[in-house]
Amino acid sequence: MKPAIVLIGTNGQVGRELHRMLPRVGEVTPLDRTRLDLTQPEEIRRAIRTFHPAFIVNAAAYTAVDKAESEESVARAINVEAPAVMAEEANKIGAALIHFSTDYVFDGLKTSPYDEDDPANPLNVYGRTKLEGERAIQASGAAHLILRTAWVYATEGKNFLLTILRLATQREELRIVRDQIGAPTLAGELARAATNILAQISGGDGGPFSLADVGGIYHMTAAGETSWCDFASAILQEAAAIPAACPWFAAATSGLPLIARRIIPITTNDYPTPARRPAYSVLSNVRLNRTFSLHLPDWRTQLHSVFVNPPAKTH
Ligand SMILES: NC(=O)c1ccc[n+]([C@@H]2O[C@H](COP(=O)([O-])OP(=O)(O)OC[C@H]3O[C@@H](n4cnc5c(N)ncnc54)[C@H](OP(=O)(O)O)[C@@H]3O)[C@@H](O)[C@H]2O)c1
Repeated sequence: MKPAIVLIGTNGQVGRELHRMLPRVGEVTPLDRTRLDLTQPEEIRRAIRTFHPAFIVNAAAYTAVDKAESEESVARAINVEAPAVMAEEANKIGAALIHFSTDYVFDGLKTSPYDEDDPANPLNVYGRTKLEGERAIQASGAAHLILRTAWVYATEGKNFLLTILRLATQREELRIVRDQIGAPTLAGELARAATNILAQISGGDGGPFSLADVGGIYHMTAAGETSWCDFASAILQEAAAIPAACPWFAAATSGLPLIARRIIPITTNDYPTPARRPAYSVLSNVRLNRTFSLHLPDWRTQLHSVFVNPPAKTH
C-alpha cells in the first residue's frame, strides 16, 4: 500500500510540481492556504492528526525576502513556528517531515560551494527565520529531511524568470546585478528529486534506505553557478528562440513583443534592497549525490528545458 503523504503549500512553485509528481509514491492530501493557514498552529495539529500521514512534505514558506525585513513576526510564524509544530506532531505519530530551506542561511563570504556542515550566518530576516525553522525541526526528534535549495523559478509564480520576461516587454535596457553568484534551480527539478528520495526511503522503488539512516540536511540545487546578470542574459537568449505558441511564455509577456536589447551589469550597491543578500551562495550537492545517487542538471540545461519542453499546467 502506498504511504499517506500530506503536502503543505501546494500552490507554491515547488508545491505545484510536487502535487503533480508525489502521487507516484503515495496517497497525497494537498493542503493549500485555504485548507490550512500556517499562522494557526492548531490548524496544523488538527490536519496532521486527521490525516495521520507517513510523510509530511512542507513546500510552504514565507518567501518574500525583502518584505520579511518589515514583517518579521509573520515570517517567523510561517518559517519557524509552523515547521516546529509540524515536526512536533510528526514525532508524535512517527511520521517523517520533508522540509525545504535556503542558500540564504549563509553569509556568502566563501568562494567555493557551501556544504551542509559549513557554519550558517544569515544576512537577512528571511534567512534567519529559515535557519531557525531548520533548528526547530532538528531539535524535535522527528525523522526529517531538510532540503536546502536556491534561486527557485518556474513558469508560474513570482520569480526572476517571469520578472525578466515582463521587464523585457517594457524596457530596452535591463540593469541587473552581477556580483551575486548562485545556482538558479527549476521547481520541477526539485520536485522530481524530492519525489525520487521519497520513493527511495518509502521503499516504493525498492530503495535501500530508512530515514533513520539518511535523515538530516541536504543541499539540492542545479549544478553550476552564475550571476543574476548572466541568468538574465540566458533568459533573453532562450526567449529569442521560443516557439510562438508556448502558453506560459505568452502569459508571462502578456503577448507583447520583447524590446529589451541590452543587459547592463550593475553592482549590489547600485541596487539597494531592504534585505542584504549573500554575494556567493552556491551549494555543494555532493552529499545528495553520494547518498541518493541524485544529480540535478546544470542551471543552463534546466533553463533551456522550460523553453523547449515546458511543464504541463497543473491545477
Ligand atoms: N523561491 C526561492 O527562490 C527559494 C530559494 C531558496 C529556498 N526556497 C525554499 O523553497 C521552498 C519552496 O519555495 P517556493 O519558491 O515554492 O515558494 P512560493 O512559490 O513562494 O510558495 C510558498 C507557498 O507557501 C504558502 N504560504 C505562505 N504563507 C502561508 C500561510 N500562512 N498558510 C498557508 N500557506 C502559506 C503560499 O501560499 P499562497 O499561494 O496562498 O500565497 C505559497 O503557496 C520554501 O521552503 C522556500 O523557503 C525558495
